[in-house]
Amino acid sequence: MTYWFTEPALKSLVPLAGASAVRGLSTPFTVPRLFMGANALSEAAGLGAGVFDMIAASCQQKRAFIVTDKHAVRYANRVSEVVKKSGFTTETWDKAEPEAPLENVSACAEAMNGFEPDVIVAVGGGSVIDGAKAAWVLYERPDIADLATVSPLFPLGLRKKAILVAIPTTSGTGSDCTAVSVVTDTAAKRKIPIVSPELMPDFSVLVPAFAAGMPPELTAGTGLDALTHAIDCVMSPMTNDFTDAMALRAIKMILRYLPRAYRDGTDHEARLRMHIAASMAGIAFGNGGVALTHAMGHALGKTFGIHHGVAVGVFIPYALQFYSPITDKYLDICEVLKIEDTSSEASLAALVERVRSFLRALGIATDLKGLGIAREDFEKSFDTVVLHSFEDPSMFQSPRPATLEQCETLFRYAYEGKDVDF
Ligand SMILES: [Fe+2]
Repeated sequence: MTYWFTEPALKSLVPLAGASAVRGLSTPFTVPRLFMGANALSEAAGLGAGVFDMIAASCQQKRAFIVTDKHAVRYANRVSEVVKKSGFTTETWDKAEPEAPLENVSACAEAMNGFEPDVIVAVGGGSVIDGAKAAWVLYERPDIADLATVSPLFPLGLRKKAILVAIPTTSGTGSDCTAVSVVTDTAAKRKIPIVSPELMPDFSVLVPAFAAGMPPELTAGTGLDALTHAIDCVMSPMTNDFTDAMALRAIKMILRYLPRAYRDGTDHEARLRMHIAASMAGIAFGNGGVALTHAMGHALGKTFGIHHGVAVGVFIPYALQFYSPITDKYLDICEVLKIEDTSSEASLAALVERVRSFLRALGIATDLKGLGIAREDFEKSFDTVVLHSFEDPSMFQSPRPATLEQCETLFRYAYEGKDVDF
């Protein structure tokens, strides 16, 4: 199969489009309309127009198709009741599978075709929202036979049939605020990012109680994903003042509130702040990009079955060190975290140690060996993992592009927990 991101012409065009000289001429910054807080879906009188009353005004047919999975269906049922009160007919599809396999996405699109919604409501974690986005593309564009070939440079023409509302039930992926959908090519054991500005949800509704059911491990993994988005985005060459503001604030919030939400899932303030921080980090990286952490983490996670947040988060220290010879943007993160040392190098070392101790406090290893990957398995899959990382479109956004050989060395260093010294 030819993936859009392995096309040589695109590989050279995408980084060019992100160059500061080009982006400086005209830089878009896209966000959904956001509603957040304990009453974000309230039907109580006196709180102004509800989200779905507002949405109903722009929907002729008032047919809402709710995409969810077996974990989030309890929240989806509550959403369905609210949506119905705004005059919609609803259908709930609760068969979304983890990591949005392409065949599962097609099944979802088929169900959408049968119901003909004019609003799609995704209620769930990142996989549910990403799967709903991809199914939405197929629903709008039945002529697209293969999602893996959809290039970000060509218009999709979405919203002729439906708009998209995202209601996350985890605090991490930020998919409710990004124009990306990551699906899985199961046969190739490969993650496929579909990228288009049109994939940005129209509305994002943040109800912290929907994330309160996450167990500590999932809280840590998803929260770490959000931290990775924020830190890697600050380092991206595609960043701008708006993305920096979102990312730096999110880093501060996550370092403060994730340990609290991890220790005590009933800590309402921590849950609310993490829910908001995850979307802020999503807005940041959705507009400004992520690089090595996700290029390497996608391949690692898919091959060894490691949770996405852990698979990308473990690479934060290595990515910061690898970028440092050509950018000192990490000093912006140090400033927010009040890390001040005698030199840039010392500040970087202190920041890396701060990230490592944060990982340890969440019970997450700081190297690949510690994540439980046996050396034998690591060696067996090494070439594939390196190649998939090297080809991952997140690599296009690295402030310091890594060669295939550098990717290999980075993986070897990350396996042993060795500081990057090249
Ligand atoms: Fe991520």
